[in-house]
Amino acid sequence: MGYSIDILINGLKRLEYRGYDSAGLAVMNSKGVLNAYKETGRVANLEAKIADKDTTGSIGIAHTRWATHGVPNEVNAHPHTSQSGRLAIVHNGIIENYAVIKARLSKMGYIFKSETDTEVLVQLIEYYQKEQCDDLTEAVRLALKQVIGAYAIVVMDRDRADMLVVAKKSSPLVVGVGEDNKEFFIASDATPIVEYTRNMVYLNDGEIATVKIGENIKVATLDNKEVCHDVKHVEMNIGCLEKDEYEHFMIKEIYEQPQSIRECMRGRLLIDKKEIVLSAVRDYKEELLGAERFIVVSCGTSWHAGLIGKQLIETYCGIPVTVEYASEFRYRNPVINKGDVVIAVSQSGETADTLAAIQLAKERGAFVFGIVNSVGSSIARATDTGTYIHVGPEIGVASTKAFTGQVTVFVMLALALGREKGTISDEDYKAMVTELAVIPDKMEKAMKTDGIIKDLAKIYTYAHNFLYLGRGFNYPVALEGALKLKEISYIHAEGYPAAEMKHGPIALVDEKMPVVCIATHHKLYQKILSNIQEVKARNGKILAIVTEGDVDVKRVADYVIEVPQTINSLVPLLSVIPLQFLAYHVAVLKGLNVDRPRNLAKSVTVE
Ligand code: AGP
Repeated sequence: MGYSIDILINGLKRLEYRGYDSAGLAVMNSKGVLNAYKETGRVANLEAKIADKDTTGSIGIAHTRWATHGVPNEVNAHPHTSQSGRLAIVHNGIIENYAVIKARLSKMGYIFKSETDTEVLVQLIEYYQKEQCDDLTEAVRLALKQVIGAYAIVVMDRDRADMLVVAKKSSPLVVGVGEDNKEFFIASDATPIVEYTRNMVYLNDGEIATVKIGENIKVATLDNKEVCHDVKHVEMNIGCLEKDEYEHFMIKEIYEQPQSIRECMRGRLLIDKKEIVLSAVRDYKEELLGAERFIVVSCGTSWHAGLIGKQLIETYCGIPVTVEYASEFRYRNPVINKGDVVIAVSQSGETADTLAAIQLAKERGAFVFGIVNSVGSSIARATDTGTYIHVGPEIGVASTKAFTGQVTVFVMLALALGREKGTISDEDYKAMVTELAVIPDKMEKAMKTDGIIKDLAKIYTYAHNFLYLGRGFNYPVALEGALKLKEISYIHAEGYPAAEMKHGPIALVDEKMPVVCIATHHKLYQKILSNIQEVKARNGKILAIVTEGDVDVKRVADYVIEVPQTINSLVPLLSVIPLQFLAYHVAVLKGLNVDRPRNLAKSVTVE
């Protein structure tokens, strides 16, 4: 057995992209003493702190914290240790009834160092270990039975240096299994451990597992019913986890899009036969073709992709689609009828709100289809079927290649369903398939806008507000462009359907207001041209995204960026690219942390 410290630090670095404010680890030293080290800020700070410490044990736990209870400081950082120092815990999630438990334990003499809910849990486990059962798994089980909330936990016991106890409810957790059970790696997703093993066991909610060197993992429910899990083999392109020659993951991921879209379509778009084949549509024909309505549930960028999906499905399949914020859907009393199919869209596959929306939909009897990137993630497993977007791990917090992947899956889904239903003509279907096949080449051409936008970004760095306007398929692109800018440059930006502007936002327009208009050629071209003229008449500064060879918008706009011509419903795959570049370059010029913007987490696993 080797030292665990290098693997722990490497794992924390791999997970840095998820967003965090402090980091910590607990390891045994060569004398069998359990020590916890913590630091605010970067993992590098923690690394410096432990440089001269004895961290040579073969077992350890580590964590990057995104503050929920208590400010981000060293004391509140994980791991938390129990009163006696025997136990250490890392925890992702929220213990909702921690205050009641804390009050009870305080009365019994337990002293708390931090403001966190997590410290309460480790103290409760120690209480059960002392009072009822020395066995760690049993003590964890007894404690978790008292807990309301969400958790993925790993608990370490100084007196049992050959084992860890893990448990999960509503927060992601995966156990990587080394050869002959000689090593185990536990993480919230496969990314930090896939370089050590590709064999994974995914726990379900309400399960607790004992991970012991030399033995098979023992999994049981909180009611102590034994559970058997298959070991799943996970494929992942580790190259995606490195920045290579790029300065940031975001710019790398923007440039990866032509290739990631090819991967997304591989084996699904059969160009020789001019056919789209999706296994989910083939295997669940009855459920999907019988849908009377689709309800898309998602958040953020995935919600924007859902808005494009709505237009695609309604256009090519004639089935009504509603698009819901998962966070709102889960707490409403949504009408879900027999015959409704819910489509859950998520890059990470771990978004707590989307997961809860799926659970609600399933409780109400809906069939759930997933459009997910992370293979084996909680959402992928919770859905009845689905189509992976297969664009490779996305590390930059600002989603780019996942968005175009999600839109591509929606295009393929709409075409496959429309074909089966006979709601798309043979001619239109073949034209769409042919054009979709060349979209990656056209994306490559759109990448050439990078240089011009980099120059233009200088003009916009000092703006305080932006307006993004689009119509039809470009309206969600306007929303997405505005979200990208907000997330990484901290400039306020609003996306709006261009024609709605005159019902309010036009009051904001003056010579200081940059207005980004997505005005590619389609049937609403003349209409958006009029909208642009309305902005111009109020001295707004217009940056227009247009189709190659455009004449009319060029006469009015201050700056024009051209993207290749394509079929209207595929335009978002091209028109979003300059907007991704714009957000990126403005943020870089402002000297901001593009890949890890303040306050944001890559996977929002808390509600
Ligand atoms: C996108 O740039 C954002 N970071 C965010 O809006 C994200 O799309 C949202 O949190 C949903 O995440 P998911 O796709 O992983 O579910």
